[in-house]
Amino acid sequence: MPRRFGLVGGTVVTEDGSHVTDLLIEAGRIENVGRIPASADIERIDVRGKIVIPGGVDVHTHMDTPFMGAVTSDDHASASRAAAVGGTTTYVDYAFQRPGERLPEVLARWAGRAGGRSAIDFSFHLAVTSPYPDLVADMALAVADGVTSFKVFMAYKGLAMLDDGQLFSILGECRRLGATLCVHAENGHVIDVLAERLVRAGRTGPLAHLLSRPPETEVEAVRRGIMLANLADAPLYFVHLSTAGAVEAVAEARLAGRPISGETCTHYLLLDEGLYHAPGFEAAKYVVSPPLRGPEHREALWRGLRDTTLGVVSSDHCPFCMDGQKTLGVDDFRRIPNGAPGIEHRVPMLYGHGVRPGRLSLERFVEVVSTEPARRFGLYPDKGVIRRGSDADLVVLDPDAASVVLAQTMTQNCDYTPFERWHVPGRIDAVYLRGELVARRGRFVGRQDAGRFLSRRAA
Ligand code: URP
Ligand code: ZN
Ligand code: ZN
Repeated sequence: MPRRFGLVGGTVVTEDGSHVTDLLIEAGRIENVGRIPASADIERIDVRGKIVIPGGVDVHTHMDTPFMGAVTSDDHASASRAAAVGGTTTYVDYAFQRPGERLPEVLARWAGRAGGRSAIDFSFHLAVTSPYPDLVADMALAVADGVTSFKVFMAYKGLAMLDDGQLFSILGECRRLGATLCVHAENGHVIDVLAERLVRAGRTGPLAHLLSRPPETEVEAVRRGIMLANLADAPLYFVHLSTAGAVEAVAEARLAGRPISGETCTHYLLLDEGLYHAPGFEAAKYVVSPPLRGPEHREALWRGLRDTTLGVVSSDHCPFCMDGQKTLGVDDFRRIPNGAPGIEHRVPMLYGHGVRPGRLSLERFVEVVSTEPARRFGLYPDKGVIRRGSDADLVVLDPDAASVVLAQTMTQNCDYTPFERWHVPGRIDAVYLRGELVARRGRFVGRQDAGRFLSRRAA
């Protein structure tokens, strides 16, 4: 029988602010936001002193994904458990096209990997890496199946990169279909020239990853992407922005009324490029693309989140173990698989290091980790909000407790975390997926097959 219970006395973050109130949960949905009379015959869970937010929605992940000669070390089972522990109840994963593969085949492959294995709700974007004659028709089929967003790469030449004509065509198709185009904006041509020069000069270690991708390689691609979107009269969503110049370009476009939006990630907000100077091969842990940046860029990203230039913080969860995976590039940084784990720590880090030091209000934090990603990707208001009728995906956060990030005790399947030993104010005490308890104080307690595929709306 579906459970009926109340979360009583918490500070509940809703769309019209934070209020001390109760939540009545029934049959997996929020039945009411408001005081539950003491006389009501109902199971009451006391959450006084705690903060209650909607479950995190992580719209940028790579589970069980072959990339740069390795396969990400978390599959849908382990990553979804880690997500639950870290307060995320929905993720949207990038289904990655192989050369020559048709989109329906990609989706079938991805559904086969995730189906019955995810402990939280999930959906897919389609990453188009190899356009083919029937692509347009297949994009329409995907949208009809609820896969309403696509990704293209302006970098990773020979692996995933499209040219400007292909990007322009796909932008137009997305506009026609009401789909969102997610763009990885880095100038792949210039990066390859710089990388080649560095290797010829004997700079083969992970620091050269940073040197081969200066901020201009992102800013140029972002500005070009905006121009192409303008030409196609299409919306565009930039993934994983890392630079002040990119934030500025997106702000200008938005001010001009263009439907341009952008995301950044936990690591760009919190980690410094100085980490690439770590001794030996240690810095391979931070080889993500685009790379980590300096403090002026981080300040611009936080500012962009506050002033709504940027709407979303994702994890870009793309874990590769140091042992046996990152080491593929021990002699040549170009072969280090790009990516790092992050789904487990996105929500707690953004609360502990975003809200607590005053970088984000509690309400804006909820918007960028949950509400906006749900809105942008056709999941709202089932997901991303605490209101009557929404899914009872809820996170109970104890502001008076704290935690320390350790790879040894985390749930993500990776042999390191870029946030090792970070002290995090606040602790996630309980996580509910559609009214079912799935995590309790750092432990997964849900069902491994509880996650449902979410068919998403087009614009
Ligand atoms: O380093 C990254 N971001 N790896 C994942 C692939 C991508 O570009 O999103
Ligand atoms: Zn990317
Ligand atoms: Zn990614």
